[in-house]
Amino acid sequence: MTSLFVSGSGTNVGKTFVTTILLNEIRQAGIACTAVKPVISGFDDDGPGESDTALILEALGRDVTRNSIDEISPWRFREPISPDMAAAHEGRALDIQEIARFCDANGALNSIRIIEGVGGVMVPLTEQATILDLMVEVAAPVLLVAGSYLGTLSHTLTALHAVQNRGLTVAGVVISESLESPVPLSETQATLSRFAGKVPVVTLPRDGSSEIAKEIGLI
Ligand SMILES: Nc1ncnc2c1ncn2[C@@H]1O[C@H](COP(=O)(O)OP(=O)(O)O)[C@@H](O)[C@H]1O
Ligand SMILES: [Mg+2]
Repeated sequence: MTSLFVSGSGTNVGKTFVTTILLNEIRQAGIACTAVKPVISGFDDDGPGESDTALILEALGRDVTRNSIDEISPWRFREPISPDMAAAHEGRALDIQEIARFCDANGALNSIRIIEGVGGVMVPLTEQATILDLMVEVAAPVLLVAGSYLGTLSHTLTALHAVQNRGLTVAGVVISESLESPVPLSETQATLSRFAGKVPVVTLPRDGSSEIAKEIGLI
């Protein structure tokens, strides 16, 4: 099984959008895949609506039911804030090892497992640990999603540095086009590429046309 951890330079940059596009590409190539979003905040158990969990289940071609939600997103919190705070407000706490074991759960041979993180690369999950610590435990290659908004260059390079600094492999950077960009996507791509070494930097325009899975060598 191949795993890929989808993280981001921040929240709301396009991690779920990229995850669902990747799932479509993988399924269209006839390759088996699973996807999980282990920790989700801002989740209303009374109506999963357009939550990340629901969007991912739909991209997997699965029904959105209590069971399927439990299966891919066991750690759900009501408030749309960082997981450590959301958990504390509910008198709960997350356990990094437990989440890592869930992420590592065996998948079928020759299948691809996508793990969508939460927030940006250093959002706290517990009093002491951030999602980066979870990524280190899981040790899967990381796909870093970034926006194309003004300010993305520093956010993205900082995130890239943080991830690489912990010895993780970065499978690629996806620039998911923001609603407003100061320059064409290609310019942001060229600039980030200059600083990204061997890491492929790919773009995802607003119309969703892209072949990310191929471009990063996943399929
Ligand atoms: N490249 C893009 N094209 C069109 N819409 C996008 C793109 N990237 C993100 N979005 C939209 O922006 C919003 C935030 O993206 P989302 O994937 O939920 O971010 P994240 O998972 O990082 O929080 C969503 O409504 C999503 O559909
Ligand atoms: Mg998301």
